[in-house]
Amino acid sequence: MLDRNKRQINYLRLSITDHCNLRCQYCLPEKHTNFYNSCDLLNSNEIEKIVKAFSLIGIKKVRITGGEPLVRKDFKEILKKIHHIDGIEKIAITTNGFQLLENLEEFRENGLNRINISLDSLNAEKYNKITRGGDFNIIFKTIKEATLKNFEKIRLNVVIMKDVNDDEILDFVNLTKDLNVDVRFIEIMPIGEGKKFTSVKNSDILTLLQKHYLLEKTSNISTDGPASYYKIPNFLGEIGFISPLSNRFCDNCNRVRVTSNGFLKLCLHYNQGIDLVPYLGNDISIETLATIIEQAIYNEKPKEHQMDSSEYTSNIESKGMNKIGG
Ligand code: 5AD
Ligand code: SF4
Repeated sequence: MLDRNKRQINYLRLSITDHCNLRCQYCLPEKHTNFYNSCDLLNSNEIEKIVKAFSLIGIKKVRITGGEPLVRKDFKEILKKIHHIDGIEKIAITTNGFQLLENLEEFRENGLNRINISLDSLNAEKYNKITRGGDFNIIFKTIKEATLKNFEKIRLNVVIMKDVNDDEILDFVNLTKDLNVDVRFIEIMPIGEGKKFTSVKNSDILTLLQKHYLLEKTSNISTDGPASYYKIPNFLGEIGFISPLSNRFCDNCNRVRVTSNGFLKLCLHYNQGIDLVPYLGNDISIETLATIIEQAIYNEKPKEHQMDSSEYTSNIESKGMNKIGG
């Protein structure tokens, strides 16, 4: 479907929990307790109904996010259900790699096409510090193993923070020489705990890389969204940049989000949207739900975010990234 700004909406980011096994410093406070109760989370049948409705309005790609989606014990069931929905051509996940190693094969067999793994340091000690407890060696082993399992793409999401991990930029790029993973540098957004860190502009990272490598821009495909990609000759993986601050990508926005408690969220930056829970009962058909979703997207999806503006605007999102799903 097209929204009122003539953007093709074909991508759903579906958060299935706000819980996480880690406590990354820019995402969650150390002693966070304000999680949704399990009874507030959509169950797998409700998720199935929602995704079916989205497929009717033209969603082709679903990314399962969290919090950490793999902390859900019924993840496999959710994956299977989405896999069997007509019209959904691609299923992706954004994960920190939690319990992924032992499940790679089964997830691939059940329709998972792409994996994005969050990894903000290649130094085990630093990784442990940033994530407040993560085990780098397990995650790195998982990443290497994942590249051997016939997924369409394995990507690393790297949130660069000034004076925290900006000294590792070239190490991350070098990783893509022999390992078939794309590395994507994400500008940290001033959302929740992210406000405590200073961002590094992706344009500065690009300038740094151009001093060391010949970078060739590669073309974007329509469901790729806001990242721009570059290739270094003879390197296996590509380098991507997600630049919400320095390069507003809203003109090409192709996505909507559903939070783990069933709220249709129309823009990362605003709290605009509608609660889908009242429409999940058996008395409401999937077609009716699809119409409700379609109208909300058409009428209410904001034209652009104002994250780089200090001016006061209303309806700004106040939830943390674990409740939004990135
Ligand atoms: N800014 C940018 N990226 C963030 N993520 C979490 N919080 C922020 C933030 N404030 C990233 C995670 C993960 C993805 C879902 O979003 O590292 O890769
Ligand atoms: Fe968990 Fe991802 Fe937040 Fe880290 S960034 S605490 S892995 S949800």
